[in-house]
Amino acid sequence: MKNNENILNHFLKDAFDLKSHLIEFLPIKPKNLNDFLNSAKMELANLHPGDNSLNCSKFYEEMVGDKHLADLAAWHISSKDYIVNTLKLQQKFSKNLVLDFGGGIGTHSLANAMSHNVEHVFFVDINKTNRDFVEFRAEKLGLRKKISFYKSISEINIMKFDSIICLDVLEHLPDPASQIEIFHEIMSDNSVAILNWYFYKGENNEYPFHIDDYQIVNKFFEILQRKFVEIFHPILITTRTYKKFC
Ligand SMILES: C[S@@+](CC[C@H](N)C(=O)[O-])C[C@H]1O[C@@H](n2cnc3c(N)ncnc32)[C@H](O)[C@@H]1O
Repeated sequence: MKNNENILNHFLKDAFDLKSHLIEFLPIKPKNLNDFLNSAKMELANLHPGDNSLNCSKFYEEMVGDKHLADLAAWHISSKDYIVNTLKLQQKFSKNLVLDFGGGIGTHSLANAMSHNVEHVFFVDINKTNRDFVEFRAEKLGLRKKISFYKSISEINIMKFDSIICLDVLEHLPDPASQIEIFHEIMSDNSVAILNWYFYKGENNEYPFHIDDYQIVNKFFEILQRKFVEIFHPILITTRTYKKFC
């Protein structure tokens, strides 16, 4: 267990030993790792047909393989200054039973599991490679007992979570409004949800897998404004914090 500042410093140093975890987990030689990471974003985009013909869940569950893991790792290493602010936000609001929905390579789950304020982390991700990688990382960091792993929220035997983390996931879902309605059902009056989104495919279609359909996005904001109240925080990032509008 570490104090908050040590957690942030560990992340800023090496993203929680991320490169050494990748080398041990993937069939990749250390000398090839940087090329693997540098080409990750393009390779992930190239896997996608570039239009709306593909089912989102199928893309993340079956097609991305270790390409998404590489894409996320490259992003977490190159954008540490942004991501560390999301960890600061977590430290301000995360407590007790935490759900990390679409947890990716596990940065937020691992940081939560290192915190004294958190009792247990429930890591949910549709992608098995990501789940296995984060389980491997949790073992390496001595956090395995504090995190459990699931493909979907319905597998978890918990009625209410104290904190919900859902970062850079909503734009990947076919119906993000329904997802925040599910979050609403599994929050108590004192729970906090930490959310962000990026409903944009990019200037040059760099993110063909992001949802940007006007009606889908509109429905998302309608539900968000009807069912949640924003809690102000002073950290200057796009991530927002919410409680239930009861
Ligand atoms: C862009 S990544 C974000 C990862 C992590 N939250 C972060 O901030 O780095 C999106 C993640 O959502 C997961 N995902 C996509 N659709 C999902 C679904 N229906 N249920 C659970 N996870 C999903 C993907 O496998 C991927 O790990």
